[in-house]
Amino acid sequence: MSDHHAHHHPPIPVDDPARQSGEIIRSRIGDRTPRLAMILGSGLGGFAERLENPVQIPYADLPGFPIPTVSGHGGTLYCGTIAGQDVIALQGRQHAYEGHGFAGLKTMIRTQKRLGVDTLLVTCAAGSLNPDAGPGSVMAIRDHINLSGQNPLVGPNDDAWGDRFVPLAGAWDPDTRTALIEAASDVGEPITTGVYAWWLGPAFETPAEIQLLARLGANAVGMSSVPDCIIARHCGLRVVGLAAITNLAEGMSPVPISHDQTLAGAKLAGDRLQRIVTRFLERFDG
Ligand code: HPA
Repeated sequence: MSDHHAHHHPPIPVDDPARQSGEIIRSRIGDRTPRLAMILGSGLGGFAERLENPVQIPYADLPGFPIPTVSGHGGTLYCGTIAGQDVIALQGRQHAYEGHGFAGLKTMIRTQKRLGVDTLLVTCAAGSLNPDAGPGSVMAIRDHINLSGQNPLVGPNDDAWGDRFVPLAGAWDPDTRTALIEAASDVGEPITTGVYAWWLGPAFETPAEIQLLARLGANAVGMSSVPDCIIARHCGLRVVGLAAITNLAEGMSPVPISHDQTLAGAKLAGDRLQRIVTRFLERFDG
């Protein structure tokens, strides 16, 4: 959103956990200048290990950061270099279905803003509603559907971070998405584009619910990413998203859906995703 429509924001309070976490991270990363932060979804955390000269900070050292409880999710912030860029990789995120609300996710994302990051790359595992885009494929998120009945910004507005009402047209930044798609083409990796539906979980969808989501225009379904996007747009971060398709959605395949299948499917899609993102970063200029 253009800044001239933004309202005046008061300063970030000194006791804001994102401000405190930002100071701790800054003290450990010195003069590195990450412009992009990526949230690594289920089974995708391995990307963090490819960063060169990494500084690793456990979330436990960062006030207000969530401690992830789901297997396949670490709980470590990395700052390192890839393709010549300083980036932050967040290995592990909190999901709404864990029942701890959204404070941890807010702190994690707002801390990035505080550090001078301008682009948030959200990654996630997802089920596909498109039979032609099966396990191992990668989908660039063009838009989302929120049927969860939840929104991370419910409650008093944090005026220091953003405005009360957040427009979401173009929330998944078209230009950055185009750059990702071009990067995929550069490295010869197929990529689709589509609408991601946020399902609260932790139970997977029923086959009837998948038919409903398909009729509503969803191309993939998962239990994350949408709150991340909303929080990031509220504080003015540019957002781009990649869903690693780990399975066909419930009712579309004889293979039973499980978290183990998610982690297994994330390997192939995750390798593709890493190649695409690495090339994207070679071309990235904030
Ligand atoms: N549904 C919801 N979340 C998911 C799925 C799915 O099929 N696959 C990976 N995460």
